[in-house]
Amino acid sequence: MISFVGAGPGDVDLITIKGRQLLEKADMVIYAGSLVSKDHLKFCKDSCKIYNSASMTLEEIVDKMEKAVKEGLKVVRLHTGDPTIYGAIREQMDLLDEMGIEYEVIPGVSSFTAACSAIKKEFTLPNVAQTVILTRIEGRTPVPKEEDLELLAKHKASMALFLSVKDMDRVVKKLNKGYGREDVPVAVVYKATWDDEKIIMGTLKDIEEKVEQAGITKTAQILVGDFIKGEYERSKLYDPSFSHEYREASK
Ligand SMILES: C[S@@+](CC[C@H](N)C(=O)[O-])C[C@H]1O[C@@H](n2cnc3c(N)ncnc32)[C@H](O)[C@@H]1O
Repeated sequence: MISFVGAGPGDVDLITIKGRQLLEKADMVIYAGSLVSKDHLKFCKDSCKIYNSASMTLEEIVDKMEKAVKEGLKVVRLHTGDPTIYGAIREQMDLLDEMGIEYEVIPGVSSFTAACSAIKKEFTLPNVAQTVILTRIEGRTPVPKEEDLELLAKHKASMALFLSVKDMDRVVKKLNKGYGREDVPVAVVYKATWDDEKIIMGTLKDIEEKVEQAGITKTAQILVGDFIKGEYERSKLYDPSFSHEYREASK
């Protein structure tokens, strides 16, 4: 059996219990070495074969999985954050499907929620935003033109940008055009939940300069929107004058 497992954003205790148990029982682990903490591997058996996928091709990864499964071994494919977001797992799963090999996917804590927790905010606030957009600026991987950052910013939803911090100049230009104002709050969270986590707070006006000064060029979330700073309405859920399935309104 093959288990695609989300390792979480960095802190080794932010993997799910199910994910940790699979690591403990695994005969082979193929981990995404560029972003997954090596501390996760301390939970593996001494006999577990461990491979870092950073230097492997898709075909090499799937080949290792296929051979292991034929030998009856338990395989964990360990991905950073949640494997279903920028995880490149679909292409692995499609090849496994072609070979008739079974697998499961165990979710993880994504870096976008870890980053929002690091700044102690909430993406969804009444009257501010009820939608979160997860996206990236185009790099070597193209982004469909309907999903251009400028167009997405026009929605004024809360945003979390992956894989984009090295292009802060283009990010800020597009967001400025979309939002139509410079005072939109932005938080850049570098390596959320790792020991060397850094948080840079600013606005569209000054964030590019601040990020450059901090020397951050990778492994960061760019969180954008008025959920970071400003007024909001209280939720109906805990409003004393509001009844719902589990609570009567107070008289
Ligand atoms: C290939 S994507 C993988 C995302 C991952 N599947 C997730 O759910 O977080 C890598 C990007 O995720 C973001 N990222 C991953 N770990 C991070 C962390 N601990 N703190 C901030 N951003 C992180 C960065 O934007 C990085 O460029």
